[in-house]
Amino acid sequence: MKEKILITGATGTIGKALVRQLQGLKANFVAGSRDFNKAKSTLNISEDKWVKFDFAEIHTFEKATENVDRVFVLGPPLTLNLEQILIPFIDFLIHKGINRVVYLSAFGNQSLGGDLAFHHIMENYLKESQLGFTILQPSFFAQNFKNYEYENLMERGITFNVAGDGKVGFVDVEDVAKVASKVLTEDGHAGKTYQLTGPVLLSYHDAANILSEVLNKNIIYPNPSEEAYRGALKAGGAPDFIADYMIPVYGMIKDGSVGRLTKDVEEVLGEKPTDLKTVLKRDFV
Ligand SMILES: NC(=O)c1ccc[n+]([C@@H]2O[C@H](COP(=O)([O-])OP(=O)(O)OC[C@H]3O[C@@H](n4cnc5c(N)ncnc54)[C@H](OP(=O)(O)O)[C@@H]3O)[C@@H](O)[C@H]2O)c1
Repeated sequence: MKEKILITGATGTIGKALVRQLQGLKANFVAGSRDFNKAKSTLNISEDKWVKFDFAEIHTFEKATENVDRVFVLGPPLTLNLEQILIPFIDFLIHKGINRVVYLSAFGNQSLGGDLAFHHIMENYLKESQLGFTILQPSFFAQNFKNYEYENLMERGITFNVAGDGKVGFVDVEDVAKVASKVLTEDGHAGKTYQLTGPVLLSYHDAANILSEVLNKNIIYPNPSEEAYRGALKAGGAPDFIADYMIPVYGMIKDGSVGRLTKDVEEVLGEKPTDLKTVLKRDFV
């Protein structure tokens, strides 16, 4: 079978960067999305590079994997019990004999339980399968500041979350996408787990200082209590489950679960990971 990659989550933060990488490598891929117009506008691709794909719609699996021999599996964020829609797709791949899977997980995920244990459940599911899987565990994305905190930063002068005084090695999604593109197009990565961090451990106090410099504007990290955080999300109209999801996720920074750096980006790419200031300068131009 000729190499052909299906990228799930192709229109998202990681997916867009991965599509660009694979285009640069002239790799054979199709971008999976629930909506062609969204795919066309975000990825600037022609219709033959798009396939309709929805984890929740099993009938989309067959066509999306036509002539495909490797798959990048990325589940959407803010979805409790995500494994419930991902496992049927993994089972489909096993049944169809598509053996090469790259799964986008998260650094420190083992510390999350209950409805948030999905990455851990998926990693175990893949390890128990006969698939030639590779697991990517990126740390917190440096791009979260632009994607999720733009209003807080620009209008309120704050970065607002519940990470306490904990530290994290924010990773550039471009680095994650470069690693993913290598793992998808080169041999020798089966059975491996790569933990992808940036080059420096930073607290949100540190990040606020860097943001202040890059944005040329005073940014503070108020280090709110969980109660204040929950109240602010509610006041902003967010459903309750968002706080239930985000508090334990940021808790991974607070309790030190993600408070270490790895060499995996450099080992796979042969170049150092990008630091937060460089990403912010690129994002906030
Ligand atoms: N943000 C972080 O700091 C961080 C760190 C580590 C790991 N992660 C993990 O990264 C993942 C999120 O990646 P991201 O930020 O790139 O996501 P994103 O930008 O929010 O994009 C999510 C993608 O999922 C697709 N999608 C939504 N519902 C779908 C469904 N039912 N079936 C198929 N596709 C669906 C959307 O595509 P369409 O709408 O076009 O279908 C979209 O492209 C999560 O699994 C999260 O746990 C995040």
